[in-house]
Amino acid sequence: MNSDTHSEPPQAPVQTSEPVYQVHVFCCINERPETHWRGSCGGKRSRQLCDYMCRLAMTLGLRRIRINHAGCMNLCEHGPVMVIYPEGAWYKFETEQDVAEILRSHVVGGRPVPRLALSIDPSTLHG
Ligand code: FES
Repeated sequence: MNSDTHSEPPQAPVQTSEPVYQVHVFCCINERPETHWRGSCGGKRSRQLCDYMCRLAMTLGLRRIRINHAGCMNLCEHGPVMVIYPEGAWYKFETEQDVAEILRSHVVGGRPVPRLALSIDPSTLHG
């Protein structure tokens, strides 16, 4: 007799009524050699800037907001880049002032930051 005959049916994934995080930020920290033709966000201080954003979020006491390091998101030429969900809003950032403004205005206040927003044409994406 096959032992699978008496196994329990697979359990359905646990469903929650609301998302775990209200806002989820992914910052690319991918790093390539300086000579790479696409460059990289990590080569432009993205890890330090992302970590600064995390510290600022903690200082502000923000809960249910997650800020994660991410790998390459295929927008290297625009970098450093981050994407914010649930909106799927893309931003370019270069300074501590930029990430602070994105955090305070977009993430906390729900007001986009046009001067840093990226408008991406999907047809221009690399492979
Ligand atoms: S290295 Fe950041 S998007 Fe590719």
